Amino acid sequence: MISFTQTTNFFGNTNPMELANRYGTPLYVYNENILRRQMRNVANLIPIPNFTANYSIKTNSNLSILRLAMEEGLSADAMSPGEIYVLLKAGFPKERIFYVSNNVSAEELQYAIDQGIMTSLDSLSQLDLYGQLNPGGRCAVRLNPGVGAGHHEKVITGGKKTKFAIAESDVPEIAQIAARHNLKIVGVNQHIGSLFMDGTPFITAVEHFLQLALRFPDLEFADFGGGFGIPYHKLSGEKEFDLASFGKDIEKAVADFTSKYGRSIVFKCEPGRYVAAEGGVLLGRVHALKQNSGVSYAGTDIGMNVLVRPSMYDSWHDIEVYRDGAPVIAEEGNMHAVTVVGNICESGDILAKDRELPTIQENDVLCVLDAGAYGYSMSSNYNNRLRPAEVLIGIDGEPRLIRRRDRLEDLVAGFTELES
Ligand code: LLP
Repeated sequence: MISFTQTTNFFGNTNPMELANRYGTPLYVYNENILRRQMRNVANLIPIPNFTANYSIKTNSNLSILRLAMEEGLSADAMSPGEIYVLLKAGFPKERIFYVSNNVSAEELQYAIDQGIMTSLDSLSQLDLYGQLNPGGRCAVRLNPGVGAGHHEKVITGGKKTKFAIAESDVPEIAQIAARHNLKIVGVNQHIGSLFMDGTPFITAVEHFLQLALRFPDLEFADFGGGFGIPYHKLSGEKEFDLASFGKDIEKAVADFTSKYGRSIVFKCEPGRYVAAEGGVLLGRVHALKQNSGVSYAGTDIGMNVLVRPSMYDSWHDIEVYRDGAPVIAEEGNMHAVTVVGNICESGDILAKDRELPTIQENDVLCVLDAGAYGYSMSSNYNNRLRPAEVLIGIDGEPRLIRRRDRLEDLVAGFTELES
């Protein structure tokens, strides 16, 4: 078995032990080279001038990573006023921010209107609300192409079983509501779900979506959403998502649409995971080893509050074991099935169940791969634990702290009783 972090020189001039000693654990570590490479890949998905890739910042909204995305020419999509605020702080111009709203209040829509941010409405009722707030305005609508895809039912956002988007049967009413408020529908968007390794459902959705888009005469853009997968089983040889042939299929659909529509518009996509996942790992320390009813447990500081994906979706993350600065090589005779758990008081606090790993010892540092997406961004203070720090390994190979670990005082910062 290979070591991903060694082959990619993930840690540059340092190593997990040094990082763990210097910054503490749990610790998110990112690699600038890998992040930039992935950003360039999506920016070049379709080689036409009227294509833009948005980075979906719900995936990872560390300011330093947003700045890399901006430098690499990506635009961004936001899901909340908070995400808009952070994007503006990172320096994204308002024209490069797309607000994909879902069931939001008038105040939230007003915030986007005041900031001059293009907004997508997710239902007829929200379109009507937007029209009341911004009569004569320009906006987008999110359409359900009737197809969904994703790694878990919780993250499928197209098709029949989802709260998202406007169904095809409701499309005729969009024009009526828009006319009532003198709104111009200048954009349409979709997002069918998160993490597919086979692009076929996405292409089917794009074709259907563009068919629906033909009904909107004033379009300036069509946004296909994200969901492009990454190989979470890379240590056992899983291949990368085939972005090149996927891009060609989208290009065909786009060319077909443009000839039918009669003029050219801007096409967008909005991947998140593809951009950020592989450029991030999570380091944690092994503090305890235990046997219980024949099961071996490795007790770590990587609780479900730090990385929730395994307990929330049964997600798989490859793990490398580091000792004395080098990965312990997985080889016959040195493998052991172990259940890797965290320090949270829930039995579901499991990072990896019955995982074959090189025999773990106390004080080893575990390196959880592909943690750059939906890792820190979904972390919490559950059990009043401190959210981890984040470090970026720069192009020069040097580590830089890009977010400090929470402090104990942060846990009481919002309590009114303690305010003088
Ligand atoms: N656009 C919209 C409107 C979305 O809702 C999402 C993700 C994306 C783009 C980016 O999707 P991506 O390219 O990253 O798949 N927490 C889950 C994933 C939830 C995704 C939610 N929406 C996970 O950890 O797998």
